[in-house]
Amino acid sequence: MPSNKKILILPGDGIGVEVMNEVLNIIDWMVKNKSVSFEVTERLVGGTAYDKEGDSISDTTMEEALKVDAVLFGAVGGPKWDNIERSKRPEAGLLRLRKDLDLFANLRPAVVFDALAESSSLKLDIVKGLDILILRELTSGVYFGKPRGIEKIGNNEEKAIDTQSYTTSEVVRISRVAFDLAKKRSNNVTSVEKSNVMETGIFWRNVVKELHLKEYNDVKLDHMLADNCAMQLVRNPKQFDVILTDNLFGDLLSDIAAMLTGSLGMLPSASLGNIDENGKRAAMYEPVHGSAPDIAGQGKANPLAMIMSFAMMLKYSFDMNEDSELIEKAIQNVLSKGLRTPDIKQGSETAISTKDMGKAVIDELKHLSGK
Ligand code: IPM
Ligand code: MG
Repeated sequence: MPSNKKILILPGDGIGVEVMNEVLNIIDWMVKNKSVSFEVTERLVGGTAYDKEGDSISDTTMEEALKVDAVLFGAVGGPKWDNIERSKRPEAGLLRLRKDLDLFANLRPAVVFDALAESSSLKLDIVKGLDILILRELTSGVYFGKPRGIEKIGNNEEKAIDTQSYTTSEVVRISRVAFDLAKKRSNNVTSVEKSNVMETGIFWRNVVKELHLKEYNDVKLDHMLADNCAMQLVRNPKQFDVILTDNLFGDLLSDIAAMLTGSLGMLPSASLGNIDENGKRAAMYEPVHGSAPDIAGQGKANPLAMIMSFAMMLKYSFDMNEDSELIEKAIQNVLSKGLRTPDIKQGSETAISTKDMGKAVIDELKHLSGK
């Protein structure tokens, strides 16, 4: 019997709770049928945590996050909390988790399932078979740069500041992850910045170039400006393999990439830190979609990005490749049968609920594993 795997579950707000429930059912199924054991703790994060605990993430929850093997995160935010001070807003809890766990490498794979290629807003031949990976730097850049704030500079005049900054080691460590991942894929990295206008852009390009020359010249490397990359992603996305980019551009480009796959409800992500001296790597897994307050509580959310995030956890945190692939295969089969939540349905197809989609995945797991 493999040793316990400690997971912290943070469903968060809105549809985060609904999609996480479907993962909890899959965990139950695995424990009963696959002789694995997980030690699962569940806590609050985001607006729900603010309402009940006075902050978007409590220190106790943060301590727990630092102790476990992996964090599974749903989604945070909603109009209810739009007007509270920024440091306590739902998103602050998420940013603190990323920063305090030092999860600098955010992997956002955009894969088009054959059965869903028609749901993309792009023509079939442009997206069919697409398999790209956006690697987003997650703990620096304009999300965390100082100084930041709004200051008075005169009568009725204020000034708002955000700072984009990167150090050599920050760019080097994310670039290493990009090159290492590319080697296991199609061996092609596109590094994306705005070196035509930004100092950090020129810097980013030079640091990536130098590392490539010294250690990774067996990997194909291209550089691209971020605006062009946004265009190329909808013009000819299959030209990419790994897109390496900073925190803000990665945020934008991964939403574009998500739509190529048919829906934001289909994109999982893994956020990883460095491996420490005990061989442990901090890790958090979350769907790229948000809390979708407009459809929360209605059973309309697509749980597949959340379920695939769990599959990524099995692969990257627990070396359970077979089980991870089993879940992916189950999802593929469910989609091939034409089962669709509202976000991925076409024309006259009937949509099923969040719960029914979760059940369908478990039925497929049973079928595939003969249990
Ligand atoms: C994401 C989200 C977050 C981000 C928000 C919720 C703070 O959009 O993970 O892409 O901007 O990073
Ligand atoms: Mg985003």
